[in-house]
Amino acid sequence: MLDDALQHAHARYAQRRPMSARLHASAARFLPSGTTRSVLDLTPFPFAVESGWGCRLRDVDGHEYLDYLGDYSVGLAGHNPREVREAVESVLVSGWSFGAVAPVEAEVARLLCERYASMDRVRFTSSGTEANLVAVSLAAKASGHTTVLGFDGGYHGGFLSFARGSDSLNVPFELTICDYNDLDSVTSAFRAYGGRLACVLLEPMLGSGGRIPGDATFLQGVRDLCTDHGVVLIFDEVQTSRTTPGGAQSALGINADLTTVGKYIGGGLGFGAVGGREDVMCLLDRSHEPHFDHSGTFNNNRFSMAAAAAMLGRVLTAERLDDLHQRGERLRKHADELLRTRGFQATGWGSLMSIHPTDRPIRSAADLAGIDRRRVQLLFHELLERNVYIGRSGFVTLSLVHDDETDHAFLTALGEALDAHDHHEWMS
Ligand SMILES: Cc1ncc(COP(=O)(O)O)c(C=O)c1O
Repeated sequence: MLDDALQHAHARYAQRRPMSARLHASAARFLPSGTTRSVLDLTPFPFAVESGWGCRLRDVDGHEYLDYLGDYSVGLAGHNPREVREAVESVLVSGWSFGAVAPVEAEVARLLCERYASMDRVRFTSSGTEANLVAVSLAAKASGHTTVLGFDGGYHGGFLSFARGSDSLNVPFELTICDYNDLDSVTSAFRAYGGRLACVLLEPMLGSGGRIPGDATFLQGVRDLCTDHGVVLIFDEVQTSRTTPGGAQSALGINADLTTVGKYIGGGLGFGAVGGREDVMCLLDRSHEPHFDHSGTFNNNRFSMAAAAAMLGRVLTAERLDDLHQRGERLRKHADELLRTRGFQATGWGSLMSIHPTDRPIRSAADLAGIDRRRVQLLFHELLERNVYIGRSGFVTLSLVHDDETDHAFLTALGEALDAHDHHEWMS
């Protein structure tokens, strides 16, 4: 029955979107799956957007949507925020790509170090993936070891996806994978590897792995193990840095040795940064021995730098981030109440939320193993039918331009989407 409903939803999706179908057919001739991001590879074909403004999107077939995905958390300021547009326009006037440094880089670095207590110095990259690659590589150089301790369900970018059984195109670091929120599994790994670990790479909340928050005791326990064994602790805050003005680590009162950020900080332009303890970051300093070169043509690209300066300096005020966090907590509570009537639930932290097609408690990726993902796919299609766009995996993010009215519209659409099928049908 669920298969029938899903097939019907796919047919309805295709029927409403002839232009998107044509676009996909031509893209698929030259792009594997017709996309450049696996996450956008939707059945029957990807969702194709022509334009966006605020928290609205228009697809290439002319339909309008409320956007509750925000490009997988990049769109914290909404689409086309004035401050970022002005920053980009200023670069259009002065020029870009000079093979030289610019004052704006020092400004962005200062703004990051002032914001995140554990950052003494920073290095920019073009993406969150690269920031994590730099962080892990620095930890390997600092320790002389190459084994990375990661967590089942951890996602740190296109080359660093740690979900057990994942078929990602990972870089060949030696990996040992532990269970999230299970300090015993980390203690055992430390026992087995002794001093042979390069680093622990950890999200304070499993992000793509299902918005599963880390327990404060678990995260503190990992911090203590790293301190006791002299292992570099990397907090990947590419998603969680939005939870408070100082990131998740400020809310938790736990400092990482290295921290990576990206996504929304670049205001929608490619951005990544790794920052942290002076004695590790100095490995990138040519006046220090030993030091290591790390270049990247676009590490300091002027568009991203100008946009990040605008985001950090003008958009991401403490007051706005706190409001956003509270709004997210409220929305998740209301969504969860609705979802539980049909055997779903919402997990998350602040303005980041995941919808899961199960009512069992979720503390690690293992708790999501084997659940029937077809139900969340159907819910995705039912929401899209009601002109609300979320991630196909059930990912929902809030932005600064959502308000009570849009949240109400989201919850109404969610209630209707859940009512589109009775309990028996959802569970079949
Ligand atoms: C926690 C986390 N780390 C790293 C990344 C990779 O960032 P990017 O896509 O900019 O390479 C992501 C992207 O989703 C992420 O969620």
